Parts: sequence; C-alpha cells; structure tokens
Amino acid sequence: MSAEPLLFKEGKTLFKIYPPEKKDKGFVPTNLKVFYNPRMVANRDLSIMVCAALRRKLGRSITALEPLSGCGVRGVRLGHELENFFNAIILNDINPVAYSIIKENIEINHLRGVGYAFNEEANFIMNLFAHRAWRLDYIDVDPFGSPIPYASAAIRAAKFNSSILAFTATDMSVLCGVYPTKAFSKYGALTSRTEYSHETALRILLYRLSLTAGAFELTIKPLIAYYMDHYLRVYFSVFKTPPHTINQVGYIYHCTKCLYRSTTLCVENKSLNCPLCGSKLVLSGPMWIDKICDEEFIKNVLSIKSLDYLPSYKQLKNILTTLPIENTMPPFYYDIHVLCDLMQLKVPKIDVLIDKISVNGFKAIRTHFSNKGVKTDAPLDVLKQFLISLSSEL
Ligand SMILES: C[S@@+](CC[C@H](N)C(=O)[O-])C[C@H]1O[C@@H](n2cnc3c(N)ncnc32)[C@H](O)[C@@H]1O
Ligand SMILES: [Zn+2]
Repeated sequence: MSAEPLLFKEGKTLFKIYPPEKKDKGFVPTNLKVFYNPRMVANRDLSIMVCAALRRKLGRSITALEPLSGCGVRGVRLGHELENFFNAIILNDINPVAYSIIKENIEINHLRGVGYAFNEEANFIMNLFAHRAWRLDYIDVDPFGSPIPYASAAIRAAKFNSSILAFTATDMSVLCGVYPTKAFSKYGALTSRTEYSHETALRILLYRLSLTAGAFELTIKPLIAYYMDHYLRVYFSVFKTPPHTINQVGYIYHCTKCLYRSTTLCVENKSLNCPLCGSKLVLSGPMWIDKICDEEFIKNVLSIKSLDYLPSYKQLKNILTTLPIENTMPPFYYDIHVLCDLMQLKVPKIDVLIDKISVNGFKAIRTHFSNKGVKTDAPLDVLKQFLISLSSEL
C-alpha cells in the first residue's frame, strides 16, 4: 500500500503531494505517484511574476491553462498567490491520480469557480481552445523533456498580440549536441558540443518555436528566455505580423581548434574555414540570433514589489537584471576557463578580465548562462591578447 498524500508548502500555498516510496532514497520526482519537483520552485515563482505583469498589462482578469499540471502546484499557486487575478485556471494532466489530487488542491486553496481540473491529453485540451472565441491569455507548457510536441496546439490556443506562452525544456543533452540526430529530427537544427551550448540550446528552442508559429502566419517575440538548473525556460508572445524570421534566424560557425565563432543569417553564405587559424568550421543551426528578452516587459515584471516574498525572488531578480544587458551584446559567450585551457594560461579573475576589456574600449559583461562566461564585442584574437597579458601577471 502506498502512503497517503501529505501537505506541502511552496511560496504561500499549501497543497498535497504523494510522498516518495520507502524504497526510494530521497525525493525522485519521476518515481512519485504524481509528479512534483520541489527544485523547480524558481520556475514556478517566475510564472507568478509573469502573470502578475500580464494582469497589469491587460487591465483585466486572465484565463490560463496548464496542460501538463502534475499535482497542480503551479496552477493553484497562481490562483492562491495572485488572488482575483484570474477568470479561470484550467489544470490538466493525463494521469488519473494527478487529476484527483489536482481537484483536492483546488479545494484546499478555495479555488472552486476559478480552478478547473481535467484529465485529458494535453494537445486535446489545448485544441479545444483553438477557436478565436476561446483563445487564452496564458498557457504554461511544462512537460518531461522537450515541449515541441505541444508547441502547435499551444500556439493555436493563445490569443494573438496579447497573450503569453511559457515553455520549459529539460532535454538539455539533446539540445546541447549529445544526440545530434535526435536534435535534428525534433528541432530541425544542427547542434554541436561547445562550451557555450546552453546558449545555442536556448536559441535553437526559440528558432523551433518561431518556425511552429510561422506555420500559422504568426511571429514570436521572446519576453524572457533563460537557462537555469539544467533546464531552459522561454516566455513569448505571438503576433499576427508579416513574417520577418528570415532576419532573426541563422547559424553559428565554430572553430574547434582555436574557439573562433561567427554567426550568419540563413540568407547569407559564409566561407567554411576559420579566418583566424584556417581550420574547418563546424556549423550549428538554424537558431534564433535576435534578442532573447523584452527589456520593457522585464521592467514591468520587476516593478511588482509585492512578490519579493517568493522563495527564489533574489535569484530570479539577478537573471532578469542580466538578460537585458545580454541583449545588447553579440550572441554567444566565451568560457574563459576553456579559452585559458586551450592557450595553456593561468585563468585570471573574470571581473579583472572584464575591466581589462572595457578600459581598452570594448564592451564586456558576465552572462547568466555560466559563471565562467564572458560576452564581449572584442574579436577573439584581441580577447586572447588580453588573456595572455593578464595571465602573465598571475
Ligand atoms: C514535468 S510534469 C509537470 C509538472 C508541473 N507542471 C509542475 O510545475 O509541477 C509533466 C506532467 O505531464 C503529464 N503528462 C505526460 N504526458 C502527458 C500528455 N500527453 N497529456 C497530459 N499530461 C501529460 C505527466 O503525468 C506529468 O504529471
Ligand atoms: Zn580557428
């Protein structure tokens, strides 16, 4: 006999989950009778911040759908912690045990009349909202692995021009180049294993979402796209505007010998040899090489001070402050440990390197993708000279 559900708390919300089986050492989310991962709290916290900003922007109540709800923690947290912000929150899961615990969690949080539980297949339930009269303000797709199997239905169920879609991807090994064949069939892009593959992963995901939206003559605008704790998360809106994806999608050429890299739009045609060392370049893409966030939207999200109680507020604030700065830099970061390793140099402190680059008239910043990463507009050969000079002082 497995144990009865027990009460748990996240943020300000109480909800029930099934405890781990006795035979499991610790908390293995996928072994639970109904999925719940406490380590995704920051992911859920940000969905609360985003919905608060969306409610303020729309100036009216929101309709929301979470087609893969697990125990329903995300949906009930939205309803409970953003009281009166929603007309309806639809919580769905294909697992019948999840469905029954979602219903309990709706009751515990007094969300009857706002929270609605369903036990359907995710695409099926999203398709019910594809009609213009039924489209939704917020759809949160948080599956196991890749969200692409749910992308078409989610995009069709979202209101154009005003809604927000949220997608989590946890299939990092596929997107980061460990399984290139799988990646090509799911994302239609060439992946490669580089020291900045978390960023190429994010951009390939954005590209694939833009392609799906394009099939419906829609374009996407990334609002917040980031990497954290081995997953990717993107918030975006879809617009009925003339397609311009051709100028936002491209490839990256990478030199495995000296780490030179260069982006190119799909419409361009660049030479295949490294201009620095002459080696053959490795091609990845297509991928999104435009902005990964909307500065104005992030400003709105951060202006809601009443949410600073959220358990991961500080961590999220850090990311949200870094993303707009990353937008101003060329895509892709350098991992200074990998560079120094390649050049057999001692590794300088990252802030010292950033100062050195800046006083020499180039831009340089840290990146949220990696604490060893630097984004700069300095060319690679110049960056290497800075590293040689700093390293000689160590
Ligand atoms: C990663 S969990 C969801 C976690 C949840 N969003 C949260 O924040 O805690 C994925 C859930 O999707 C459900 N699921 C898997 N395939 C599904 C499908 N095709 N339709 C609906 N639910 C599905 C699983 O039962 C599981 O509960
Ligand atoms: Zn090279």
